[in-house]
Amino acid sequence: MTIKYHKILGDHRGQLIALESGVDVPFEVKRVFYIYGTQPEIPRGQHSHYETQQYLIAVSGSCKVTLDNGDEKITYELNQPNVGLFQDALVWGEMHEFSEDCVLLVLASGHYDDADYIRDYDTFLEKIKS
Ligand code: TYD
Repeated sequence: MTIKYHKILGDHRGQLIALESGVDVPFEVKRVFYIYGTQPEIPRGQHSHYETQQYLIAVSGSCKVTLDNGDEKITYELNQPNVGLFQDALVWGEMHEFSEDCVLLVLASGHYDDADYIRDYDTFLEKIKS
């Protein structure tokens, strides 16, 4: 499933969400990065990966993420810290309409490797149709 709702472990002290690699996140997490200081009119992403899988969570604020597998394009709104969105390898992704307080946490299945990026949309379409 692409969107997952995680259990919130809250009490009078506040909220806590725990994500376990390979259990709540559908791969072994090798890298974590987060995006913040964004602006509503400036999109990010606009690429795909050959192998890297990603799991995106708006831990603060909100943004939209459009995932495109070449046949179907779906836009998801991430606006709760307990919601995770899975982006598989060879799926084109764009993040947009960030709220100014958005902190988008991304868990990735691989270390950073520029060679794993597909930044040209036509190259992406050629790769998935091949
Ligand atoms: P970029 O891929 O442009 O971000 P986005 O996908 O959100 O549009 O990444 C911005 C810069 O950060 C770019 O110079 C590459 C670098 N970077 C790393 O060094 N490690 C990472 O894990 C990521 C995601 C990016």
